[in-house]
Amino acid sequence: PAAVDYQAEDAFISQGVVESNHTGFSGTGFVNYDNVSGSFVEWTVPASTAGPASLALRYANGTTLNRPMDMTVNGMAVSAAHPFNPTGAWSSWAMATLTVPLTAGPNRIRATATTANGGPNVDKITV
Ligand code: GCU
Ligand code: CA
Ligand code: CA
Repeated sequence: PAAVDYQAEDAFISQGVVESNHTGFSGTGFVNYDNVSGSFVEWTVPASTAGPASLALRYANGTTLNRPMDMTVNGMAVSAAHPFNPTGAWSSWAMATLTVPLTAGPNRIRATATTANGGPNVDKITV
């Protein structure tokens, strides 16, 4: 099936805010994670059949430090402390890719900051 965009600003946000003060985002903005460990965005992604799918997460990290996040699907760890390395500026966006195991029906895909710096700014995922 064709890849579909799921905007972060339309997802469930815990400890983060929707902003649009850095250019280059898609949709209507991006999520600025609160700079705390445990802040997360959770998307609900439907799949017609079970199986592995490619996920790309579009993010910006204008600092000089990695902003790792735990990636889970339906509560199951897919990639612990997945790296979201510096992109050079808050207006420079990069794609992080991973393979996620989807079940048929709705899937809860969550990206949770693992350090006190919080996550990167997150624009969307494409699945
Ligand atoms: C800056 C930037 C925010 C970013 C934040 C951070 O304030 O404008 O978009 O989220 O740094 O360090 O997390
Ligand atoms: Ca932030
Ligand atoms: Ca967006």
